[in-house]
Amino acid sequence: MKSGWLLWILCGWLLHTAPNCPAQEKAWMLGPFSKADTANPVLGPLPQTVFRCPMRNAMVAWEANHVFNPAVTIKDGKVYMLYRAEDTSGAAGIGAHTSRIGLAVSSNGTSFVRNRQPVLYPAADAARAFEWDGGCEDPRVVRAAEGMYVLTYTMWDRKTARIGVATSRDLQHWTKHGSIFSGRFRNQWSKSGAIVCALKNGQLTAVRINGRYWMYWGDTDIWLASSPDLIHWTPVLDSAGKLLPVLSPRKGSFDSNLVEPGPPAVLTDQGIVLLYNARNDDKAGDTTLPAFTYAAGQALLDARNPAIVKDRSAGYFIRPERPYELTGQYKAGTVFIEGLVRFKGKWWLYYGTADSKVAVAVAEK
Ligand SMILES: *[C@@H]1O[C@H](CO)[C@@H](O)[C@H](O)[C@H]1NC(C)=O
Repeated sequence: MKSGWLLWILCGWLLHTAPNCPAQEKAWMLGPFSKADTANPVLGPLPQTVFRCPMRNAMVAWEANHVFNPAVTIKDGKVYMLYRAEDTSGAAGIGAHTSRIGLAVSSNGTSFVRNRQPVLYPAADAARAFEWDGGCEDPRVVRAAEGMYVLTYTMWDRKTARIGVATSRDLQHWTKHGSIFSGRFRNQWSKSGAIVCALKNGQLTAVRINGRYWMYWGDTDIWLASSPDLIHWTPVLDSAGKLLPVLSPRKGSFDSNLVEPGPPAVLTDQGIVLLYNARNDDKAGDTTLPAFTYAAGQALLDARNPAIVKDRSAGYFIRPERPYELTGQYKAGTVFIEGLVRFKGKWWLYYGTADSKVAVAVAEK
């Protein structure tokens, strides 16, 4: 008994001092995640890959500046990553460059072979007005039951961010379907669409709840939307007809400044587990984290009513620690989680580091 208590004290001490100590705040949470330090960062910018941009009608080094914010899925037993790549156009500053989405494939989760061409980018198509010249940003991908992949991403026209949706069968060739919202929400600022999925044959696959698909989205509060087909979405509103806030920032906490969905949400036996990104406030935040740090938490939502939060982690489960996470294009430090797969019997969580590179963390459960 005595040694048992000693172990607890030791573990408590370790938890307090070692940021990577495997421990889980709540039983329903995914993880604990350990960063793959020997392999990270798994993707960085490449100056030599060029493609002919149909908008500029010129060769562009489309991933020369930064690569970050990855989506992932499994196909033919391999990890397929769709990542945001920035060229060097535009002035210095966050979001000033044109973004396109590239594709990289890995047999072991850490070593990626990239396509030379981006797979989703601004072109003379129906989405042009929403995507030029800011571009296509921050993808999230899920598998639909029909063997179709559905990608949500930010269409950025430098005025309004809108979630766009695209579909593909091979992850190489994408069909754009434009803005997920129409009618009075067509010009709604929207970002970060995380569709509710469940593990089917080891694949995170979009699932219906109460006959519809569900998506968490937003980048101040987290909001909710539903859809009959994964392409056309309707926001969930409160009784006054306003967007219903599902998860909001908390004072004094790592998520005091904003909350924003991470990878696709996972329906488990205990409810829907939503891994979310959060920014720390400079005045009302967690004083142990630098102002405006992006760290990530987890929330548990009701499996029968995705608008109801049942529980929430008090603290973050991943935060910037390594040099490439602590600074980069985004100076305040970022682990921006966007990609999650079940691969080789583990969870693999892919994230953008300081808006500059891509890294991965792995969990047994
Ligand atoms: C992953 O695969 C690459 C290429 O095949 C190899 O060089 C690397 O060592 C592998 N990494 C691990 C952790 O197995």
